[in-house]
Amino acid sequence: MSTRTKPRVGPLASRLGTSPHLDVDALLDDPSTHVVVCCGSGGVGKTTTSAALALRAAERGRKVVVLTIDPARRLAQSMGIERLDNVPRPVPGVVGSAGGSLDAMMLDMKRTFDEVVEAQASPEKAQAILSNPFYVTLSSSFAGTQEYMAMEKLGQLRQDARKSGRWDLIVVDTPPARSALDFLDAPERLSGFLDGRFIRLVLAPAKGPARLMTAGVGVVTNTMAKVVGAQVLKDLQMFVAAFDTLFGGFRNRAQQTYELLQTKETAFLVVAAPEADALREAAYFVERLDADRMPLAGLVVNRATPALDGLSAEQAVAAAERLEPASGDGDQDGSRTTAGLLRLHADRARRVDREQRMQQRFQAAHPRVPTVVVPALSTDVHDLDGLREVGRLLAG
Ligand SMILES: Nc1ncnc2c1ncn2[C@@H]1O[C@H](COP(=O)(O)OP(=O)(O)OP(=O)(O)O)[C@@H](O)[C@H]1O
Ligand SMILES: [Mg+2]
Repeated sequence: MSTRTKPRVGPLASRLGTSPHLDVDALLDDPSTHVVVCCGSGGVGKTTTSAALALRAAERGRKVVVLTIDPARRLAQSMGIERLDNVPRPVPGVVGSAGGSLDAMMLDMKRTFDEVVEAQASPEKAQAILSNPFYVTLSSSFAGTQEYMAMEKLGQLRQDARKSGRWDLIVVDTPPARSALDFLDAPERLSGFLDGRFIRLVLAPAKGPARLMTAGVGVVTNTMAKVVGAQVLKDLQMFVAAFDTLFGGFRNRAQQTYELLQTKETAFLVVAAPEADALREAAYFVERLDADRMPLAGLVVNRATPALDGLSAEQAVAAAERLEPASGDGDQDGSRTTAGLLRLHADRARRVDREQRMQQRFQAAHPRVPTVVVPALSTDVHDLDGLREVGRLLAG
């Protein structure tokens, strides 16, 4: 397991058996941490965790930029990032007394793609690509484009940070994918698609004289022309031909960002809900990071049901059962209400037990992954105070 060389293990024993406690403040304060990537499956709290970590790091003195992806509207409003213009802007209301600062941005996937094309191709070629209908489709809806562009943007921010010195920590949110692995797989998937055999076949006529075509290519393009129409095929060939020269550029950039993710200046945090599916995904992801030699900082179990003191589930059920026969006598309503409350308490206690069992299963398989458990707050997290509270809980 390749956790970072100096694992951020705090003095607190985790409430979860033997796994070490993730010391978030040590991670954020470490000047050698330059990139924190929050991954996890859909809806587990990646955006919230990224924003909360970024705010906490900034208020502890780091110069931070956070790259968010599709934040909820109210959260975006309170961070001043409703405008989708790919430009990091200062977040209003951050306490800068420790010398830190916080800029935030929301990823504009299409604009990021356009910028890469503009930077890589001659102005005429860029124009031809940008106005091609297939480019418009690919850049706005190909599965994996968002992940790829998040990586691209991270690469750009890192370069900018190095050159300008404006930021010393980049916190990266990742797109709402079914699987956390999609983030790591996207560059390969996108360049695999652009490099694929089908595309080669379509491209071939645009590249050379027809006599060089194999019979197979002729059949494919003829069939394609019949199915999609000659103009559409022409657009597609033009797009692929124009894009062909950019493949190298795309591949190289993705490779560079991939390498950045493997350096010690990066820390991955895996966010998971205390549920079987999310923790299984988290386990896959932890194994994949290890296989790709990417530095894992730890696991955040987010939105855990806060444990209650008092009766266990069994005790609450037993008490409810004792009360229920009493509903036949005079104090019917009171007994029924109390029994109902006891059963609610039992449900919740069972949920807490189930969540803890699932976490323990994860830890049994990955005992060295530093972990922190963040309880569910009673409301959504949509302003800086909410983020501060999540940050405080993340720091244990
Ligand atoms: N600890 C928490 N307590 C209460 N609410 C939370 C907590 N963490 C996240 N939430 C809420 O859960 C919802 C989902 O969180 P968030 O948007 O951060 O998830 P996500 O992993 O980024 O989702 P997606 O995969 O769709 O991008 C939000 O409404 C957020 O306010
Ligand atoms: Mg999100």
